[in-house]
Amino acid sequence: MPRIEWPEGRPAPPPSTLAVLDRAAEVIRGGGLVAIPTETVYGLAADALDADAVEAIFRAKGRPASNPLIVHVADAVMARSLAASWPEPAARIAEALWPGPVTVVVPRSHVVPDIVTAGGATVAVRCPGLPLTRLLIERAGRPLAAPSANRSEAVSPTTAHHVLEGLGHRVDLILDAGPCRHGIESTVVDCTTVPPRILRPGPLSRSCIEAAVGGAVVDGSHAVEGGTTRSPGAGARHYAPRTRLETPDDPPARVADLLRQGLRVGWLTFRAADPGTRALAAANDRLIVVPADPDPDGFARALFATLHALDRRALDRLVVDLPPSDEPWLAVRDRIRRAARETDD
Ligand code: TXA
Ligand code: MG
Repeated sequence: MPRIEWPEGRPAPPPSTLAVLDRAAEVIRGGGLVAIPTETVYGLAADALDADAVEAIFRAKGRPASNPLIVHVADAVMARSLAASWPEPAARIAEALWPGPVTVVVPRSHVVPDIVTAGGATVAVRCPGLPLTRLLIERAGRPLAAPSANRSEAVSPTTAHHVLEGLGHRVDLILDAGPCRHGIESTVVDCTTVPPRILRPGPLSRSCIEAAVGGAVVDGSHAVEGGTTRSPGAGARHYAPRTRLETPDDPPARVADLLRQGLRVGWLTFRAADPGTRALAAANDRLIVVPADPDPDGFARALFATLHALDRRALDRLVVDLPPSDEPWLAVRDRIRRAARETDD
């Protein structure tokens, strides 16, 4: 019987689901690639201890070998088996926030192949919040290296369908558990420095991490060390749709301007119900208006799916209203800026 406790009030996974998980576990143990649902985004998983399997992840994504992978574990015990030491902040984060959407970077054990860490001295580990993901890890009996299941620099997938569109035949099996609850990638915290640093903002805010750690945590998302950024995948060219995306200071004026130029425009906006926006939409069949969720969590959940959907509409330009710059919006602002390929570092 699985050790993982199914959340109270939910029926235990039926035998048919367990049979699919066993099939996926077999693929993993055979060195194959399985696209996995998590509570953040879908991941492209392989046995983290099998260097050849991990190499196949890099090939399928077209990912540079210099960008290390996150290793997914069933619990903190498995995480510690991958670490040379377990710094106090990592222990506290694991205790308070796992399973959940936060990754800790810790000194790496020699059992982790070089290719996973891009040759670095640290390894990133996370225990995913979705019980199904942990069940798979348990049944495979292996930690899973899994980056987001998209081609390198493309928008992360938040449904199994996005994975199919982006990676299709490059994956041996895709597990479909419906849309991801958070919709953006985990918060990444470097626990090898004092104080710990946030390398990538995510669903759990800095104050939430500070409460878990019991002390200050700094923003390290633009940290540079010896000429390379600490979180190599946090480069500016990331999460970008194929259609050019802009975040103008005055979105209504910019959208009107683009329409005057004869361009087809998709606009993700907090102003969907404004009379001006409605008039513009009524007068232009080249404009698609997508209402933005005024709640940061709802906005995050829908963001990548909206970008995927608009990208399929053969538009000339995407315009996104930039949300406020206060803490609850930091992670989505980060993703939007990367989608616009803007650099603010
Ligand atoms: O929510 C998530 O984290 C998703 C799901 C699938 O778990 N995974 C994900 O993986 O977003 P990926 O590979 O797309 O992004 C991992 C980020 C990259 O920015 C990478 O550079 C950074 O974590 N990273 C991985 N290992 C690291 C390490 N040892 N030190 C610093 N940064 C690391
Ligand atoms: Mg990614």
